[in-house]
Amino acid sequence: MSFIDFFRSTAPYIHAHRNKSLVLFVTGEALAHANASNLVPDIALLNSLGLRIVLVFGSTPQVAGALAQGGSDNTALWNSQPIDRDRMRTIVEVQSSLRTSIEAQFSLGLVNSPMHNAKVRCISGNFIQAQPLGVINGVDQEYAGRVRNIDHQAINQQLDHRSIVLIPASGYSSTGEIFSLLPHDIAVSTAAALHADKLIILNTAHDINQNPTLRELSIARSELLLAGLTQKSAEATDLSAAIKSCQLGIARCHMLSVDQDGSLLNELFTRDGTGLLVTNEAYDSVRQATINDVAGIMQLLEPLEAQGILVKRSRELLEQEIAHFVVNERDGMIIGCAALYPFGDHTAELACVAVHEHYRHSHRGDHLLKAIETMAKTQGIQQIFVLTTQTAHWFIERGFEASTVSALPDRKKDLYNFQRNSKVFCRHLA
Ligand SMILES: CC(C)(COP(=O)(O)OP(=O)(O)OC[C@H]1O[C@@H](n2cnc3c(N)ncnc32)[C@H](O)[C@@H]1OP(=O)(O)O)[C@@H](O)C(=O)NCCC(=O)NCCS
Repeated sequence: MSFIDFFRSTAPYIHAHRNKSLVLFVTGEALAHANASNLVPDIALLNSLGLRIVLVFGSTPQVAGALAQGGSDNTALWNSQPIDRDRMRTIVEVQSSLRTSIEAQFSLGLVNSPMHNAKVRCISGNFIQAQPLGVINGVDQEYAGRVRNIDHQAINQQLDHRSIVLIPASGYSSTGEIFSLLPHDIAVSTAAALHADKLIILNTAHDINQNPTLRELSIARSELLLAGLTQKSAEATDLSAAIKSCQLGIARCHMLSVDQDGSLLNELFTRDGTGLLVTNEAYDSVRQATINDVAGIMQLLEPLEAQGILVKRSRELLEQEIAHFVVNERDGMIIGCAALYPFGDHTAELACVAVHEHYRHSHRGDHLLKAIETMAKTQGIQQIFVLTTQTAHWFIERGFEASTVSALPDRKKDLYNFQRNSKVFCRHLA
């Protein structure tokens, strides 16, 4: 694809993601990966494209490294042990150092760097309220805590100002103490509290975030997959966080691997992305259109109108007529539509049948036609007609028969454009 074609192909995704809230959880392992240096410019780009971003970052291997340097043993398991005062001090030092390093990278603005002119503001603060885990099986967990509350209003205020909100894996209690929290829990709780549109978990590669045969799973299928995974493995921890976030109302949780450079951009701005999507809603569905779909329908129809395949419709007209439309939505993007206009006498016009060119040849046109037929039947319509210039055979293959302008309802006959010279086809509904 040429650069121009490629850039144009990203436009629908850019429109679909603008002003959407995204909680991006980058694990400590992903932060330590060589590709992490490209992450900050990629996130800055998402910010300039209008996404509202909360960046939750883990620090597990970095804390383990600092503890090992300080002479502690069994550092790999530091997170599951009671966290004493010394350990908590190390955690705070490591998280502060990671936070300042991320802030510094967002501040880079040298000419020739990808961050030139980015002007990103990132903010961190006391957004996460924590409480101690307390005494478990007789053992005081000391500074190990759990999420108590997320100050979503304060986070939203920052997002409204286009700031990126940075959240480490710790929180403050009402007693003024700091507690170490599990970063997956923070990411899920924050996404739920914000009613985020997406949660993305970016980790190093494991069996399920980089498996080309696993692209999209419902909650039920994710639970089956989780049952077969080794407990507490990286993939099980990521997947159970994804399931939990969907159960809490987040429509889509993506699991990506940092090993694939640019996986974040790939997932958000290309047709099929690279990671695994866990979703609590139909990822790809045909449904009745709403007023919120008008912009998406316009984007879909524009190129077809420019080619003269469809008659141009203004935004105002689409808004007035939106109740006549069904749409095919895929991952938040309108990739197909069709409309039904009743003309009285049990007759209606089928119009505006369109499928985005990237998604053709997979029976989406058929699904739209079926949805229109169902809509027609509920309205007592017995016959539908269609006017077409270049798609005659597609309709003939679906049971439409050639008809004439004189057979059209009078009101449609009056509007018939003889210059356009569309052919008329008609089909009786069983
Ligand atoms: C017509 C259209 C909606 C079909 O969408 P789709 O999702 O690809 O449809 P399906 O997968 O159900 O059907 C694909 C079949 O239709 C055929 N087809 C596509 N466009 C066609 C056309 N203009 N004339 C005849 N057949 C056509 C394809 O060749 C394919 O046939 P095959 O399976 O034998 O290869 C889509 O091509 C489109 O949006 N076209 C531009 C808009 C348009 O012409 N709309 C009708 C205006 S009245």
